[in-house]
Amino acid sequence: MKKILITGGAGFIGSHVVRLFVNNYQDYYIFNLDALTYAGNLENLKDVQGASNYTFLKGDITDAEFLDDLFATHRFDGVIHLAAESHVDRSIADPLAFVKTNIIGTVNLLNAAKKHWADNLEGKRFYHISTDEVYGSLGETGFFLESTPYDPQSPYSASKAGSDHFVRAYANTYKLPVVISNCSNNYGPNQFPEKLLPLCIHNIKNNKPLPIYGKGDNIRDWLYVVDHARAIDVIFHRGRLGETYNIGGFNEWKNLDIVELLCDVMDRKLGRTLGQSRKLITFVKDRAGHDKRYAIDASKIKDELGWQPSLQFEEGLEKTVDWYLANEEWLDHVTSGAYQNYYQKQYQI
Ligand code: NAD
Ligand code: DAU
Repeated sequence: MKKILITGGAGFIGSHVVRLFVNNYQDYYIFNLDALTYAGNLENLKDVQGASNYTFLKGDITDAEFLDDLFATHRFDGVIHLAAESHVDRSIADPLAFVKTNIIGTVNLLNAAKKHWADNLEGKRFYHISTDEVYGSLGETGFFLESTPYDPQSPYSASKAGSDHFVRAYANTYKLPVVISNCSNNYGPNQFPEKLLPLCIHNIKNNKPLPIYGKGDNIRDWLYVVDHARAIDVIFHRGRLGETYNIGGFNEWKNLDIVELLCDVMDRKLGRTLGQSRKLITFVKDRAGHDKRYAIDASKIKDELGWQPSLQFEEGLEKTVDWYLANEEWLDHVTSGAYQNYYQKQYQI
């Protein structure tokens, strides 16, 4: 049985990756390593908790000694690395937390793999999950390609860029078998309500203001999270070592437009008059250094590996809203306690 270590598996994207691997690969044993920060939540994985090919391990990737012991004990065949501090606004408030987890944590993992795989690299694979934000910000036209030079603009993207560079440096210097992917904005079930869409779903439900930064004209490319997990599956198994793959939805939206669409979907689902939720839209101070536009050219993964998004955006958004409305308890749990402090500090509305 192959032993696969997935880091950050209790988070948003990680939980979908863990579920996909546990359910689809009975010949793999999946170890989910997660520190259970504010963003990690084992409720995301209730359905796989008892599976015979799955174990959860609580641990922190900033602890090099712990990782060394873990690799010595389990002799993993592959690593899929998603653990990270992931929210741009939090990186503006506390950059060092992002350096610690995203850069030092990644280097600790690389060191553990390098040491414990040194005797036999055959069949091994270190897969690092990254973001399109490392490429910086686009003007009105153009797309990020795998060859686009790095130009990170926020502490979050700088920390992810740093981690990407270390992964490539370990491939070049120590011949570590690595692969990297850079994905656009994910949405879907289990996303923590600090990110735009789940925050707005939560606030619409509770008739609270919907904070739109600046004029709401920044543009993001949105991909349903299960489609990202499918891409990760394909890249882990068939991506060429040493390569980078961009993943995206070919689905660009201005922030204001996507929130207005969400308001209309919510009005319909909640039996409200059409237009009622749009009245909650509130323009607030812009995010510092706010990147204008991201857009991914995902041709390489389509042409080489045959992956493309499976869901139309409107369908994905309906599924997402349905999930949040059906999982009130999940939302209540994650928005109690520390969330309230974060929210007050961030928005003051
Ligand atoms: P998330 O914040 O929802 O989850 C991160 C997980 O990592 C949490 O479970 C958390 O407990 C865990 N974690 C944090 N610090 C840790 C540490 N020191 N040790 C061990 N575990 C730790 O993030 P997400 O949105 O699921 O993103 C997952 C990965 O995908 C990240 O690397 C992120 O940069 C990348 N990514 C995210 C998106 C997106 O739209 N969300 C898009 C592209 C790439
Ligand atoms: O592009 C991939 C990235 O997408 C990932 O690497 C990050 O981990 C993920 O958090 C996401 O980053 P963004 O900053 O794009 O996502 P966020 O949901 O925070 O914001 C989306 C857009 O909405 C962005 O332009 C900022 C804006 N926004 C966000 C929030 C939270 C608002 O206008 N109001 C808000 O309250």
